Amino acid sequence: MFSATSRVFSKAGVRSFSTAASAARPRALVGAAAAAVGIAAGYTGYANECLKIEIDDATAKKLLAALSTAAPAAKGPRYNELMPSPADPAAKVCVVEFNIPGAKNGGTDKGPNGHRIDSLPIANGVIKAGGACEIIKYYDTKHAEFAKLVMSMKYDALIVRINPGQLSQKTLPGTQERFDTLMNEFISKGGIVWSSPDVQTKMGAKDALVKIANMGCGLRDTLAYYTAEELITGFKKTCAFQPRVIKQNRGSAGEGIWLCWLCSGKYCKTYGEKSLTDGEYLKLMEMNDNHIEYHTVGEFLEFCINGPDNKAKAGNWSSVFPGKYLDGGKAAGGQLVDQRLLPRISEGEVRILMAGDTCQKIIHKKPTGGGLSAVGGNSEYTYYEPSDPKYADLLAKLMKDIPQLMKVLDLDGQPLPLIWTADYIPKDPEFARTDGVDTEYVVGEFNCSCVGISPFQAVCGGEKTLADVPDADYYDASELTDLMGVKAIAMIKAHKAK
Ligand SMILES: Nc1ncnc2c1ncn2[C@@H]1O[C@H](COP(=O)(O)OP(=O)(O)O)[C@@H](O)[C@H]1O
Ligand SMILES: [Mg+2]
Repeated sequence: MFSATSRVFSKAGVRSFSTAASAARPRALVGAAAAAVGIAAGYTGYANECLKIEIDDATAKKLLAALSTAAPAAKGPRYNELMPSPADPAAKVCVVEFNIPGAKNGGTDKGPNGHRIDSLPIANGVIKAGGACEIIKYYDTKHAEFAKLVMSMKYDALIVRINPGQLSQKTLPGTQERFDTLMNEFISKGGIVWSSPDVQTKMGAKDALVKIANMGCGLRDTLAYYTAEELITGFKKTCAFQPRVIKQNRGSAGEGIWLCWLCSGKYCKTYGEKSLTDGEYLKLMEMNDNHIEYHTVGEFLEFCINGPDNKAKAGNWSSVFPGKYLDGGKAAGGQLVDQRLLPRISEGEVRILMAGDTCQKIIHKKPTGGGLSAVGGNSEYTYYEPSDPKYADLLAKLMKDIPQLMKVLDLDGQPLPLIWTADYIPKDPEFARTDGVDTEYVVGEFNCSCVGISPFQAVCGGEKTLADVPDADYYDASELTDLMGVKAIAMIKAHKAK
């Protein structure tokens, strides 16, 4: 996830202020610019409109840099509350939130006013783009009331900002199912839900990687297992051939994502030539904390299927999570994906942060401490603008894949998520290339369920509110929420025109 705990929106990308600083000679700044530079320099006699200040390049650069952080007013006013909606809105939108009964603030993703910190900027983004937007709460105990409001079709779209799993915390039995059914009814009447239950389960699930396997952004030899038999036969064959990654569908932040290497014996030369036996040894590394365990194939499979409790079969596990990845069967999201281990993950994962069909930011997440996990907390983030040539090829390929993406994921006709990420892992070219390209990127996962806007969410969970987000973070993150507003209105218009 574009996680709530990872901070800082510092940019490695460019923040250019003025060409004035780039030429060789000292230059003259005139009018308002000179006045502003004068202020930054502590110069007070700037009232004269024709003022000229002669400064050298290095000083100009320094002053302009200081100015950019010292003058948020240049970036427009700051809104810490919900803005008024226009009288004649281009579309009507609603942000839907949920407060966990009895939890402080309604959940650790919120502030003391009970709102997610990023809800207000998202709603304001819609309003700035010409739409009307309100924020409403869903209460599991008042489902009928909420259903009546939603099904009045007063809103063109709902932006659901409820973290996965929250609707099952201290709620009435069946709350998630009731909520999803209602969202689907709203969609069937022509409304848009970001992200719909279908998008969350089909695009956000790990087996989406199997569906995109043959696209430019996919890894061809990706498999999904839904039953114990499929897992046992499949994994024994794949891991006999090469190092693999086994990914559970539930959980996040590397929990139940296992890098698997064969320790005993050699990998076979062709896929299918050999299958591992239960007694052969594996080296396993879990991506939540990079810890390593050694187990037999039989123990690993027992852990994946039944968990660690039967020590005679599963051995001793140090993982803090309980395995049982197929529990509940396919319908309940029980699945494991088996993907080739891409060793160049050590160079880092590239997160493409999208609003609809527009890339807003590129984030390079490099594993730290000698590990291979690029999840938040285990990796160092560097931010790039979408225009950065470093990732031009990768982004161009994603853009080319996008028109097909929803179809391939069995989501034809559904709008793209309002905010989503595609996380790419680098690898050597699949086939020898003649164009000098030595790195190809494939998708390791999509995130499309309530992706958090980290500079806002960085202050959540305690006493702080949106007003406590530092200016630099506020303005940086508002670029994303403002884009989301523009994209929401555009997607609503396109949907209505269908
Ligand atoms: N095919 C792969 N090859 C190498 N490392 C991988 C692969 N897939 C995932 N990883 C590593 O595991 C981490 C977590 O996997 P990911 O699929 O993103 O799950 P999560 O939902 O937990 O973030 C990644 O950030 C990366 O470090
Ligand atoms: Mg991930």
